[in-house]
Amino acid sequence: MRKTVLAGNWKMYKTQAEALEFLKGFVSHLEDTPDERDVILCVPYTALGSLSKNLHGGRVRLGAQNVHWEDCGAFTGEISAPMLTELGVDYVVVGHSERREYFGETDETVNRRLKAAQAGGLTPILCVGETKAQRDAGETEAHIFSQLEQDLVDVDQSKLIIAYEPIWAIGTGDTCDAAEANRVIGLIRSKLSNPDVPIQYGGSVKPTNVDEIMAQPEIDGALVGGASLEPESFARIVNYK
Ligand code: G3P
Repeated sequence: MRKTVLAGNWKMYKTQAEALEFLKGFVSHLEDTPDERDVILCVPYTALGSLSKNLHGGRVRLGAQNVHWEDCGAFTGEISAPMLTELGVDYVVVGHSERREYFGETDETVNRRLKAAQAGGLTPILCVGETKAQRDAGETEAHIFSQLEQDLVDVDQSKLIIAYEPIWAIGTGDTCDAAEANRVIGLIRSKLSNPDVPIQYGGSVKPTNVDEIMAQPEIDGALVGGASLEPESFARIVNYK
């Protein structure tokens, strides 16, 4: 039985004060959220501590947006798994396309980060997806299969979430057609040794399209950027019909 996982990725948005304000507005909408849906907020490092203290064991779980592969060391600007778990963090996004594009993240470093996250007790959310040019050239499947093959070497698939995020659909309002996202996610699943890995769709998920996306049989959840920044909007997504 695959889990349903709805996660917000705030990227580089919200101060501590703004994060706490969000939480106040958001939790009141969760009373009717079905128990079997996991709700995660992946927030900037600076907001993790104060959010953690204010979750009060509620049903919102915390995620970070990256993790280093060593526990400690001379790695200026990096954060390790023990530093995150100490704050009550359970999940971490790894290999987001923005990390790969702007910060030189490679499949090798993604693989190292995934293994370190798991060794440290975190469940990683691995992001994969193609560019517009790759899609137009008919290379979508080959690119994603190559990412999976390299990223998942020696990764424990019983403690893993995958997010299919077509890069051309991120932050553009140009959502991938739900049936097409379903098809690609089915292909991703066919490459996994564990068929129960939850696979999310990410890329311009909004209150207006979440019902159609979540109705697809292969899609187990959503990784939501812009629409996770407002409590009402993310609550509508989490409470999809
Ligand atoms: O990780 C979530 C993401 O990249 C999608 O962003 O703003 O298109 O929902 P957005």
